[in-house]
Amino acid sequence: MQDYREILAEILIDENSLKKRVKELADEINRDYAGEQVLLICILRGALPFMVDLMRNLTIQNSIDCMAVSSYGEGARESTGNVRMTLDLQTNIQDKNVILVEDIVDSGHTISHVLEMLKTRKPKSLKVCVLLDKVSRREVSVPIDYLGFPIENKFVFGYGLDLDEFYRNLPFVGVVDLNRYNQNE
Ligand code: PRP
Repeated sequence: MQDYREILAEILIDENSLKKRVKELADEINRDYAGEQVLLICILRGALPFMVDLMRNLTIQNSIDCMAVSSYGEGARESTGNVRMTLDLQTNIQDKNVILVEDIVDSGHTISHVLEMLKTRKPKSLKVCVLLDKVSRREVSVPIDYLGFPIENKFVFGYGLDLDEFYRNLPFVGVVDLNRYNQNE
């Protein structure tokens, strides 16, 4: 695995900006659900750091659960639209205020599919909280209730987003220098 500094073209969103924005999103959620409970659902794995930081800033009562879906063909970086659930929730979401937490929306297929699936389970409310939105890549329209940052179509990593499963722990969102990144090393 290469040192991230070898493949970092630029830091797109630094640690302080992430902290500040995540706190703002949590404040918004605290206001919107004042006096209520929420269930945060993390779509594994990219949304993990974002969800943890988000929940640390919540003052309303909250619980968490995780689910996993697979939408990318092996080795591919593009969503196929062929989304399937690989890990289901432990929680019955009926009559609960659910907030779906995602690291990034690209084509929109993942969120769109997960929303349709969760709606059939009759939650009290269902909202979407996304850290990064690659607006120009959208293929299906998805509602985003809480958005961290709209971003351009750049190949990003860090803060949950991986490169061949590594670098998710980086505290910032960086842009990959594709000329220097040796895949599958
Ligand atoms: C990423 C991201 C979203 C999805 C967005 O997940 O976390 O779930 O892609 O793409 P879409 O809008 O085109 O559907 P990925 O499949 O890379 O898995 P990961 O979260 O485990 O990294």
